[in-house]
Amino acid sequence: MEIRKDFLPLSRPSIGAREIEGVVSCLKSGWITTGPLCKAFEDKFCKLTGASYALSLSSGTAGMHLMLLSLGIKRGDEVITPSMTFASTLNMITLLGAKPVFVDVHYDTLNINVDLIEGKITKKTKAIVPVHFAGAPVDMDRILGLAKKNDLPVMEDAAHGLGAYYKGVHAGGWGQTAIFSFHPIKNITTGEGGMITHSDDRLESRLKLLRFHGIERDAWKRYGKGGNPEYDIKTPGFKYNLTDIQAALGLAQLSRLEELNSHRTRLADLYRKGLEGVSGLDLPGVPHYPHTHAWHLFIIKVASMERERFMQELSRYNIGYGIHFPAAHRLNYIQKRYKIKKGELKETERANNRLVSLPLFPDMKEGDVSYVCGAVREILKNG
Ligand SMILES: Cc1ncc(COP(=O)(O)O)c(C=O)c1O
Repeated sequence: MEIRKDFLPLSRPSIGAREIEGVVSCLKSGWITTGPLCKAFEDKFCKLTGASYALSLSSGTAGMHLMLLSLGIKRGDEVITPSMTFASTLNMITLLGAKPVFVDVHYDTLNINVDLIEGKITKKTKAIVPVHFAGAPVDMDRILGLAKKNDLPVMEDAAHGLGAYYKGVHAGGWGQTAIFSFHPIKNITTGEGGMITHSDDRLESRLKLLRFHGIERDAWKRYGKGGNPEYDIKTPGFKYNLTDIQAALGLAQLSRLEELNSHRTRLADLYRKGLEGVSGLDLPGVPHYPHTHAWHLFIIKVASMERERFMQELSRYNIGYGIHFPAAHRLNYIQKRYKIKKGELKETERANNRLVSLPLFPDMKEGDVSYVCGAVREILKNG
């Protein structure tokens, strides 16, 4: 087949007139940092997820950090999570002096294997952090059942889960805590950014204090007409707030979520049809329970040739790719520090050197998917 002239990236944010107008209007408004647009973005998030509270943040990682702190995770504690996740989760757990305890995943969906969670719970376990991997919601009923039985909080890593529903409930809507990410590769973007959702009255004020220096009132209220610019600090905090410029982008993107995700779903269907029956390749599995997949990523596993060479070939065809993720327990410091034995995370290891993310983004054309499918077929045939 003929090689395309232009490069097809792994991902590209869909920025249209609505996003540009929203940002320009914020820039002209006179208030560009955290303010009314962040508040509107948070309100929309509560509506979408069904959570009582939403806190906009500078990143998903900031959300992870604040949630772990607010749940009281400290030195000596253990947090259960898959190794098939982004390193930021492990970094935050480790920097708090706690230990990540890894649970294996299912090879097909890359979601945590719930059957294996209970065997990892000890007296030191303080939280369970499952990931709705690539947009496929985890089995929340079973995870919540286990959490309740063992009196543990669940923190959903919903960085991939915007628009993902489990049995009709949106990620983050389970009365537990959840974090979302708005990095440009995600289902909606704010450039960089994140959100915590939760429904715990006791957590809300602590999270807000930790988000912004430990100061009780938002700056836009302190500096608004008649506001009192004085402040007190009761507990030291971070500077993890989102800006209104970013929220303007986020609001425009959120208003298009259904449109953006339905195109992702259409492309994922085309990939599945276009790559069906190709030998040497495993397609992503989907959960067996009722759900709506957010199709954040389309991840194949290449079993019949070296991944390195496969990616080089994709490159030759002018196709971008990604790795989501290198298994965290094989990353240098994690391997050295926590010494996970070979074979302990069998399915994670099986997927680890095979997985490749193919291009998937809202402005991608159906013809682009056909092109990638044709290239993948040729690459694997010529092995
Ligand atoms: C599964 C997962 N968790 C957490 C994060 C962290 O989000 P952020 O990049 O917004 O800090 C990411 C981002 O890539 C992610 O993919």
